[in-house]
Amino acid sequence: MRESNVYCEITPHDAPWEAVRGLNPKGVIMSGGPASVYEAGAPMAPSWVYESGLPTLGICYGMQVMAHQLGGRVAPSAKKEYGHAALTHAADGEPLFEGLPASMPVWMSHGDRIVEPPAGFVGLAHSENSPIAAMGNGRGMLGIQFHPEVAHTPDGRAILDNFVHGVCGCGRSWTPANFIADTVSAIREQVGDGKVICALSGGVDSAVAAALVHRAVGDQLTCIFVDNGLMRREEPERVVEAFDRHMGLNLARVNAAESFLGALAGVTDPEEKRRRIGRVFIEVFDAQAARLGRVDFLAQGTLYPDVIESETTDSKASAKIKTHHNVGGLPEDMRLQLVEPLRYLFKDEAREVGLELGLPEEMVYRQPFPGPGLAIRVIGEVTLERLETLRAADWIVMDEIKSAGLYRELWQSFAVLTDTRSVGVAGDFRTYGSVVAVRAVTSDEAMTADWSRLPYDTLARISSRIVNEAPGVNRVVYDITSKPPGTIEWE
Ligand code: XMP
Repeated sequence: MRESNVYCEITPHDAPWEAVRGLNPKGVIMSGGPASVYEAGAPMAPSWVYESGLPTLGICYGMQVMAHQLGGRVAPSAKKEYGHAALTHAADGEPLFEGLPASMPVWMSHGDRIVEPPAGFVGLAHSENSPIAAMGNGRGMLGIQFHPEVAHTPDGRAILDNFVHGVCGCGRSWTPANFIADTVSAIREQVGDGKVICALSGGVDSAVAAALVHRAVGDQLTCIFVDNGLMRREEPERVVEAFDRHMGLNLARVNAAESFLGALAGVTDPEEKRRRIGRVFIEVFDAQAARLGRVDFLAQGTLYPDVIESETTDSKASAKIKTHHNVGGLPEDMRLQLVEPLRYLFKDEAREVGLELGLPEEMVYRQPFPGPGLAIRVIGEVTLERLETLRAADWIVMDEIKSAGLYRELWQSFAVLTDTRSVGVAGDFRTYGSVVAVRAVTSDEAMTADWSRLPYDTLARISSRIVNEAPGVNRVVYDITSKPPGTIEWE
């Protein structure tokens, strides 16, 4: 929806009307899901969906729920339909299929199907296994059995466009420029003449949040950049360059590499590394913040997926895999209010806003980088020397991936310095050196990931450069583990 320049929010299936009324919705989409309407406890739509008169599009399970709740019949299909299917619609004048060919490829993934639409509804399309692959009641209630939101439904975007613009009558007002204008005035209103601090990490989220707040309140914002000595080569300089020299924002850079390395001395356990890094971060950040005198607000780059996750995560269901540290806690006595201008944005939208605000592309499209930095990519003890070796290897991976034009299509690509040593030969001499692992993955939101089938030539160049240029490394291996069962990072 957002890509169609329409603002949308995600609410749980049982959200009461009071929770959505204030949003003044122009339409509703009921998403797909793994349940079957006949299972005990299957999620159902609240009655306001059917009583409000709002245009509603049910997708897959959403359509089945609509059929079930309105008195139609849903039943398991003899043949489940997964994958490509040909959809044929004979619904001339149906706004949902406006401008689309009578037959088109779509992506299906369902076990149940509609066998009888509810009273007042007619079938609008069919596929080989779904006699009712789309239905409607002529008054804005629509259902589709296929998934318009996936790339395998090439016309899916046009169908969603038809729904929001044609059926719901939404305009195209959700654009980066409008977002910036609205957000800047909202920040001004919230902050008044208060003082704001923001921790810059070098990542896109905190960068865009800082740039927005700066646009809104200028010098009332001070950014703190804690250089933990665990970043990649040239990275701290680029952060300073972009914000200090380029944007003229108040930036306090704290060089705390020694404190972090000191706290990490002798530590090999990954979780202990994270705990110590988190603790030192808070100490350094707090000390710096305390020097600013009275501060009222803390700006953070929280994105919408984080908000959804924290609102919907059932603690019983989500096992802790790793502790993630971004911005640590806050000084107890500061009681800062949060300014979270990206709370309703997805990552790709935050990027567009960043570009519109004039942030460098390199920062806006930076691959995700973990808060604890290279410390969790140096397996075993983190020392300055081992960090330097990893920095050299990481630089080469980055350089080759960028030259091959692959940087943006990979979720992450990096080197890991393992704690394994192996025998090699250089000239006529035996060597006993370090093993570097190269990791490159594709992913959408990091919950799952696949190892990238990098071209052999790229791998060959990465390998030969690393053994030649990274001190003490005599072997390079490529990590071919997906997530799950592996995680993206090694620690
Ligand atoms: P894993 O290794 O759990 O990583 O598959 C998923 C994503 O999270 C990043 N990551 C972190 N990010 N603090 C962060 O800010 C952390 O402690 C941390 N650990 C992992 C990782 O780079 C990947 O994008």
